Amino acid sequence: MAKGRHSRLPARKSSSTMILTVLLMFTFVILILLALGILSIPSNSGDPSRKANDLSTIVHNKVDRIEGDDGKREQWVEVISWEPRAFIYHNFLSEEECDYLISLAKPHMQKSTVVDSETGKSKDSRVRTSSGTFLPRGRDKKIREIEKRIADFTFIPVEQGEGLQVLHYEVGQKYEPHFDYFMDEFNTKNGGQRIATVLMYLSDVEEGGETVFPSAKGNYSAVPWWNELSECGKGGLSVKPKMGDALLFWSMKPDASVDPSSLHGGCPVIKGNKWSATKWIRVNEYKV
Ligand SMILES: *[C@@H]1O[C@H](CO)[C@@H](O)[C@H](O)[C@H]1NC(C)=O
Repeated sequence: MAKGRHSRLPARKSSSTMILTVLLMFTFVILILLALGILSIPSNSGDPSRKANDLSTIVHNKVDRIEGDDGKREQWVEVISWEPRAFIYHNFLSEEECDYLISLAKPHMQKSTVVDSETGKSKDSRVRTSSGTFLPRGRDKKIREIEKRIADFTFIPVEQGEGLQVLHYEVGQKYEPHFDYFMDEFNTKNGGQRIATVLMYLSDVEEGGETVFPSAKGNYSAVPWWNELSECGKGGLSVKPKMGDALLFWSMKPDASVDPSSLHGGCPVIKGNKWSATKWIRVNEYKV
């Protein structure tokens, strides 16, 4: 017994020394990280004139900037609005990827339909005059790469996405303002409600074809591109289609209720052609 107690004492002493050493080293590492700017201490030094919970500003600032290397176009994420929560990821797709999606879809384009809110079935409609087709999830390597990138951008797993829908709008074609979330039981059986939408522009549009949010809160005439917008585009917060850009907006708020400020439409194309690809994302796994 006595022998045991003797041998235990120095052991306890050395283990407490070790804990101290580890703590000191940890503190040292944290200090180095802080000094190098890898870690930062959160501060509340935002705009003091902005009230907490006031989301009504059209934000429009660049939050992250990644310098493009090897000749790739610069990629950055821009917050354009908090009500609805909407973000533009610039140069999300390469030109090759845009052309690839168009070439896959082109032979299969059909007149677009809308969801009948009473039956939940698809129906023809005058509010949506584009043509489109679905590309199944995980169809090939290129599509899987794009779908992985969407999952990284949205923080929502690939499995919660529907297939990509490629859409084509010719001059005069449009999609009247609508919600992406469902009001019926039928469409939410697989995957539940739609939580977010990633809309990728596969072509530039010379005039018109903006994605417009007519119910966006804030002074949407303050966007820098205001003078380039069509009459329809001036009816709300508008995003001009630009090849490769991806628009992410949320149909649901963080409290899981649907967000009516996510009302959005596709303005009529005035000049040129509009190609886009849409990824609708559900709250649960979407089985294909
Ligand atoms: C909205 O923004 C525009 C452009 O910055 C400005 O001229 C206008 O006065 C603003 N309107 C309001 C109501 O703040």
